[in-house]
Amino acid sequence: MDANTIRKKFLDFQVKKGHKIIEPAPLVLENDPTTLFTGSGMQPLLPYLLGKQHPDGTRLTDSQPCVRLQDIEEVGDPRHTTVFEMLGNWSLGDYFKEEQINNFFEFLTKEVGLDPSKIYVSCFIGNEKYGIPKDTEAAEIWQKVFKEAGIEAKIVEIGSAKDGDKRGIKPGERIFFYDDHENWWSRGGGCEDTPIGDPCGPDSEVFYDFGEDKQDVERYGLAHPASDGARFLEIGNQVFMQYRRLPDGSFEELEKKNVDFGGGLERISAAAIGSFDVFKGSLMKPIIDKLEEISGKSYNNNTDEMRVIADHIRGAYLLSAQGLIPANKAQGYALRRLLRRAILRALDLGISANFLSEIAPIVASNYAELPDSILTHREMALETMLHEENAFRKTLNRGLKELHRITRNNSISGKDLFKLQDTYGFPFELSVEECYRQGIKLSENYREEFETALKEQRERSQTASRGMFKGGLEDHGEKTVKYHTATHLLLAALQKLIDSNICQKGSNITAERVRFDFNLDHKMTTEEITKVEAQVNDWIEADLPVAFDEYDKDYARNTLKAHGEFWDKYPEKLKVYTIGDFDNPVSREVCGGPHVEHTGIIGHFKIKKEESSSAGIRRIKAVLE
Ligand code: ALA
Repeated sequence: MDANTIRKKFLDFQVKKGHKIIEPAPLVLENDPTTLFTGSGMQPLLPYLLGKQHPDGTRLTDSQPCVRLQDIEEVGDPRHTTVFEMLGNWSLGDYFKEEQINNFFEFLTKEVGLDPSKIYVSCFIGNEKYGIPKDTEAAEIWQKVFKEAGIEAKIVEIGSAKDGDKRGIKPGERIFFYDDHENWWSRGGGCEDTPIGDPCGPDSEVFYDFGEDKQDVERYGLAHPASDGARFLEIGNQVFMQYRRLPDGSFEELEKKNVDFGGGLERISAAAIGSFDVFKGSLMKPIIDKLEEISGKSYNNNTDEMRVIADHIRGAYLLSAQGLIPANKAQGYALRRLLRRAILRALDLGISANFLSEIAPIVASNYAELPDSILTHREMALETMLHEENAFRKTLNRGLKELHRITRNNSISGKDLFKLQDTYGFPFELSVEECYRQGIKLSENYREEFETALKEQRERSQTASRGMFKGGLEDHGEKTVKYHTATHLLLAALQKLIDSNICQKGSNITAERVRFDFNLDHKMTTEEITKVEAQVNDWIEADLPVAFDEYDKDYARNTLKAHGEFWDKYPEKLKVYTIGDFDNPVSREVCGGPHVEHTGIIGHFKIKKEESSSAGIRRIKAVLE
């Protein structure tokens, strides 16, 4: 059974159980201050899990493409991927543990046809510090479910995954209690790391057993469901979202208790074909086959490289097909990074000519069944990817030439290799390889020299950004300050009236004008321009207060929901400007300032020009009269 069939079966099954199919959310989140990409099916449902009524009712289902770049370094093993599809079903205050557990077991065993004796599960052991009880209820439901399937299912307490690595499992054991690092779900992780205000709760994970021989005991310890080894693969997670984290750190029970189920489609497909390697599933195997063909090398001997390439190109396609363009920051940078990593790993396989044009169409046809509502730019995706591949190959060639140019007496220092990376984007590891290949001598301490130069550069740029966010904007002249505040109002007006996903993509302010770049897929109409102008002038005339304060980055981002573009680069403490009522502001942005104290003194705001700046980016020139 292939992945497309499993996706369809899942949705049909959930509909049969009374669920409504909802549209998956876009992968690329333009204006969510908490994260760059959709990383789980529940993310778009957050308000509903906290009690808001969903227009489609209390039983929902979908298949949500997800990106989790935090796993990027893990890709290469048999199970980690940066992109995956999450099959999801939700009960919003409707059914709870009993119905969820029975349904998922039925789906796996009756619809997908998995052998029930290969299914193992885990439940939450409880947490004394936070007064959260052990989830005996879920464990007992499981025991009943297994009993009905004729399977002995002993319940055991394990504790941490490390405890499990030492203990392993004993005959008859099937239901395992773990601590909150394994069986508590929130967007931040365990109990301690649950974000304030978020819904969360104990979970019950479901694992597929690929057989004892798959466990590398030397490396991962004895096999048990939550082990990192390859014997058990998690194929689904049922979160019983029954708590919410309070500002004082404690947990309160939600009035309505929810179920948030997520199961990796690629992983369930792997279980369906009995392969512990998810890259052998139908969404990935055709890519691997093509890589074998292009490189003339076998997957068996080049497993890591081929997995990384297949995964990253899949991710790059999904992002490009949503209209994302490679760039040097935020989401665009993630896309660039995926493509470049794939191209570099392909070099390791000896693929040095353009190859994305052969792989991307395979990925595209794998995803033919995803709805157009999320893959809005299918046509453009290939072009985006090929363009970046060409540009990067040019960079690589330039770097290679430069390496030979700066080689003196057939030797080179680590400092020079750093310069190559910093100025020409030519990666250090590639330089080292090229030196080996060409017999160029590397200085004795080249690695340390490289590290030192890198560290020095990091310190320099940190100092620069500290300066910037301490309010180090150069021109504090009165006129310029007015333009700064007008710029915040302009962004807020664009977001309010044109598209809430609009972000600042650059701005340049002098005492005469502001030039402001932002993302938008169309030329603004005269009517839109007039509306935005009028809104900014209304806010100016309302003489709103402008206030600032310093906050912890996390607080500014997650609680105050301040607008910012460079969360990764901001210092831990930063300044946030609020215009208007503090609890319901017109604008709230991370900014070094300075700004006027009240908007009434800004003057009359006039948009002089609206033009294209680059693909998907518009530019406004405006003046204060
Ligand atoms: N939200 C749960 C997860 O991401 C289902 O694992």
